[in-house]
Amino acid sequence: MIHSRRGSKVLVCLAAFGTAGAACGANPDPIEEVNLTHAALTAAPLGSTLPGIDAGDFAGFKAAFLSVEAITDGVGPIFNERSCGGCHDNGAPGGAGENIERRFGRFVNGAFDPLASLGGTLRQLFTVANFNNPNLPASSRGQCQPGNPTLCCIPAEVEPPQATIRNVGRLTTPLFGLGLVDAMPDSFFDALQAAQPAAIRGVVNRVPVILPNPGDPSQSIRSVRVGRFGWKAGVSTLLQFAADAYNNEMAITTQHCFHGISINDFALENAPNAPNGSVLDGCDDLAPRQPASFGPSVGLSSTLGAQVDEPVGSCAGGRTQIQDDVFEFAGFMTALAPPSRDFSDQISVTRGQPLFAQVGCAGCHVSTTFRTPANPAPVSIDDAGSESVRVPGNFAFNPYSDYLVHDMGALGDRIGNAPPDDPTLPGDSLEVTRRMRTAPLWGIRFRNHLLHDGRVSDVASAVRLHDGQAAASRNAFNALSAAAQHDLVQFVRSL
Ligand code: HEC
Ligand code: HEC
Repeated sequence: MIHSRRGSKVLVCLAAFGTAGAACGANPDPIEEVNLTHAALTAAPLGSTLPGIDAGDFAGFKAAFLSVEAITDGVGPIFNERSCGGCHDNGAPGGAGENIERRFGRFVNGAFDPLASLGGTLRQLFTVANFNNPNLPASSRGQCQPGNPTLCCIPAEVEPPQATIRNVGRLTTPLFGLGLVDAMPDSFFDALQAAQPAAIRGVVNRVPVILPNPGDPSQSIRSVRVGRFGWKAGVSTLLQFAADAYNNEMAITTQHCFHGISINDFALENAPNAPNGSVLDGCDDLAPRQPASFGPSVGLSSTLGAQVDEPVGSCAGGRTQIQDDVFEFAGFMTALAPPSRDFSDQISVTRGQPLFAQVGCAGCHVSTTFRTPANPAPVSIDDAGSESVRVPGNFAFNPYSDYLVHDMGALGDRIGNAPPDDPTLPGDSLEVTRRMRTAPLWGIRFRNHLLHDGRVSDVASAVRLHDGQAAASRNAFNALSAAAQHDLVQFVRSL
């Protein structure tokens, strides 16, 4: 889906958000404890925007996020859903979802093997199946079914028998407030880690930036940034997550330019139980075919043109360009305000707050106030900033996560963070694969499934499954009286 460009827009910090959430121009103080009243962001409904976001821009971004794509737009050959909003929809567009994806893998000599040649680790659940492509290239005609020159056959992806880590669920997470998290500097997460006692200290997951945000001068191709998104904090920016999801969830392949280099990492279709890009030429979908090359490139291959559904064209002349839809998805997420707090059960919430710290929940689900930089980098489609969106500066918020990964023992999912594009890199050790990102607790009352695989639906059950670095805290929770457990849970549900 291609949208026309709107006018140039750079958003500024306009006004305080609700009663006490934002402090435009206030002194940035990265590590600061909050009390109950300070964290009362706003009574705005779920899915509202941050202050300073242009309503017209947001409407466009949201439409892109909800837009359902078809095989003629590039959906296929295998996919999980046909719109972002089809999964992220609980409570409001951008919410958590009912969709629990499936991953698989195995260990070889103690190292995680994503089984990439068999389509791992993400198992796409749907296929465009058999379809006719009247424009099939000569080399592919008649290959699927003798006598039928234009038929394409795409089997569904199955879990291969080689997998020993099987059918691991990954619940759809909510996206509210994530632009604020994106804006946080790496040093903030390092400071959170340094403040943690050794027994529960998390790991700052530094990862290469595959798709840099041209609006952020600190990012470039393969520069390193703190991973903060996804259940395992494997991705460091919303922009990159958007390109990744478009490719891996919806099978829409995109090309991007960054200072004249074509980024092709999200330009290759998944193939059922086979390496990416290996589907019969012309049988990926019915989107228009693209030229065979986009100039100097990095990533998986330099000649991916024919498979790219949504290209940006030649990257000559130092051009930087984010593919339109991907930018709009990132814009949508950047604009979303965090969930509001709920003090309707004030007495329990007030009693539960000190218990939350006392039993050690706050060691990982930190109550530290985050504050965006004074001038957050805009998310932009090119380095001229011809279209951009940004979160307010000096904006205080409380996600109740350190965004670090922790060894969660038996709760860890034993799936490795796949190396970006180099199968020769050693796989993660078992210990590393047990690491999960501290799940942010803001807005938890809007959720009906909890934990990475959605296996429980209430806070107390989620706590009882904590293990590894969180075992002591779990035990302390279990040792509380039933009344105290109730108060603690009510506090968590107020966040
Ligand atoms: C098939 C369902 C599905 C679709 C479609 C989908 N997502 Fe997601 N999304 C998920 C799941 C599952 C996760 C958790 C992934 C993980 O960590 O393994 C997720 C996580 C995310 C995250 C990370 C949030 C966090 O908690 O850090 C972002 C950002 C995101 N999705 C954006 C998008 C965008 C943008 C689109 C559309 C291009 C999209 N998603 C389409 C299921 C989906
Ligand atoms: C050592 C760090 C650590 C401690 C201590 C800890 N947690 Fe967690 N918590 C996590 C991690 C990591 C996850 C994600 C685990 C997963 O789903 O695999 C999580 C998940 C959760 C979830 C589910 C959130 C969701 O989005 O599904 C809840 C609720 C929760 N924790 C509450 C608590 C409470 C209450 C306490 C104190 C009794 C606590 N946690 C202590 C690290 C911790």
